[in-house]
Amino acid sequence: MNKKIGILDSGIGGTTILSKIKELLPKEDYIYYKDDKNNPYGEKNDDELQKIVRTGVKFLLSNDCKIIVLACNTATTKCIKNLRAEFKNTIFIGTEPAIKVACDNNYKDILVLATEATIDSKRTMELIKQNKKDYQEVTLIKGKGLAHAIEMNNKEEITRILKDIRKQVKFNPDVIVLGCTHYPLIIDDIKYFFKNADIIDGSDGVARQVKRLLEENNLLNSKGNGKVEYFSTKEKYASQNNN
Ligand code: DGL
Repeated sequence: MNKKIGILDSGIGGTTILSKIKELLPKEDYIYYKDDKNNPYGEKNDDELQKIVRTGVKFLLSNDCKIIVLACNTATTKCIKNLRAEFKNTIFIGTEPAIKVACDNNYKDILVLATEATIDSKRTMELIKQNKKDYQEVTLIKGKGLAHAIEMNNKEEITRILKDIRKQVKFNPDVIVLGCTHYPLIIDDIKYFFKNADIIDGSDGVARQVKRLLEENNLLNSKGNGKVEYFSTKEKYASQNNN
């Protein structure tokens, strides 16, 4: 089916998901909805967040998308339930902190780094409850201001926030779960402060899930060429490229 895959995030974070999906599905075409006018999502209250994410979803659906990928942990943990209830015929794929992956791989000291909204969400609590074994410790830490600093490419602020996080975490985690799609963009900085920790994020799982659901629903495209149309709410421009 020649319709597009719609991808939504509050900014550049979702490109980490987009590139993984494109690797698996090069013959699809994409629309990337970059809601940078409303960045950061992680510091919005619930009502605001529901409203702005819904606007993005409506935009993607009215622009010929066959499936919606929330390439954002904040939008997923806070909004996906309501979106599925409202847009009953739409397939949504979310991005959640990869707590299950960390627990299944038997890491002992697990640190989850995510936005304030994601850390405070019921869904994050559920993920811990469902997956944590008795011998495992899961510590949650809020990357306050971090996604926005990444969005702005403010290197000084990124270093300041990471230094502060390193101070707050009084142990050496075995693994860090990156529960925000902006964070893989600064993976080297994170590794600098947490030298011995493994790092995981949910992007591979999201990409596999997109492929699986398109196959199951007979929605795969064989005629696209990986074209991406970008729509930025801040700049209100649309551009295209095949990268
Ligand atoms: N990249 C998003 C996430 O995964 C949102 C970050 C933000 O806007 O606060 O949570």
